[in-house]
Amino acid sequence: MTQAELISTAMALVAGGKGLLAMDESNPTCNKRFAKFGIPQTEVARRDWRDLIIMTPGLGKFISGAILYDETIRQTNKDGIPFVKTITGKGIIPGIKVDRGVKAIAGFPGEKITEGLDGLRNRLKEYIQMGARFAKWRAVFVIGNNLPSRGCIEANAHALARYAAICQEAGVVPIVEPEVLMEGSHDLQQCFGVTREVLHSVFDALYRQRVVLEGMILKPNMVIPGLDAPFQAAADEVAEGTIKCLRQNVPAAVAGIAFLSGGQSGELAAAHLNAMHVSHSSVLPWPLTFSFARAIQQPAMEIWGGMENNIDAAQQALYHRAGCAYSARQGEYSTKMETTMSKNRMSLNDIFDQLPQTHSQT
Ligand code: 13P
Repeated sequence: MTQAELISTAMALVAGGKGLLAMDESNPTCNKRFAKFGIPQTEVARRDWRDLIIMTPGLGKFISGAILYDETIRQTNKDGIPFVKTITGKGIIPGIKVDRGVKAIAGFPGEKITEGLDGLRNRLKEYIQMGARFAKWRAVFVIGNNLPSRGCIEANAHALARYAAICQEAGVVPIVEPEVLMEGSHDLQQCFGVTREVLHSVFDALYRQRVVLEGMILKPNMVIPGLDAPFQAAADEVAEGTIKCLRQNVPAAVAGIAFLSGGQSGELAAAHLNAMHVSHSSVLPWPLTFSFARAIQQPAMEIWGGMENNIDAAQQALYHRAGCAYSARQGEYSTKMETTMSKNRMSLNDIFDQLPQTHSQT
């Protein structure tokens, strides 16, 4: 795999005005979400859920890449067809979560370090054979009293950069995900300050580990008040703070930026991404898109509830959320899409078919 091929995969992941679908919840996280809706927490249920997602008709119109979990990349549907084959057949690039989750970091109470570097080189070889072309590693940072600490930021930035370098050596595009968590009552300015520190350290570490910026994608949080903040910000304020922070700290050479949703509803995440494109598209040096998990999956999971009879309705809901995220990426999202059209795939198709099929920056 040459550097040119690596860069072309990175570009393909953010091309066509599309975005990424994160469906890489670890078994414990997936089970926790299932439990909320009374869905059995079994391998079969997880397989059925992932099958429902990837079999959603028309998903490839909006989604360029799907991030899978270790269990999922090895699974097949009921007829024995590998998920990776189905995904690839729909024109979607398969990716894989390669971190091994977050653990308490010694010496830093309340903070976490992401594990998974040991053996990564060999694990990547197997994932490539199974069809993965990109990978994801997530680090988390809490905002609190004097948190995150410098030590935690630097340790996680270093791990992210080491992971990214190992991926690129293998020809796999790294999705570098430093997530400043939404939990807490901090305001937008505090989130701005912490996100700035984190991004600055991450790009310093990426530079030191000789990561090719053109062959990687950044998956950041939006700059947004905490979930328990007394005042929430308007979409325009979130858009302005986020773009300012990214423009100050993310080199223009990065292949693309794809946001996590972080606990925002699908509607809010779409409104925020939309506002960034409506008001700031002329100053964006990188393609700016989405890599949502909950903001695309959540309503569909609730409708499905583990029942075969609900598959069609759940797929319509998933299609709807993916379509709204796609529209937001073009700056064409409106709340009208949520109200009058929400449960009618034909009407949604009418709307989405009118949207531009390519993005000016791709
Ligand atoms: P959310 O969009 O639910 O935050 O998940 C994105 C993700 O991939 C977390 O690693």
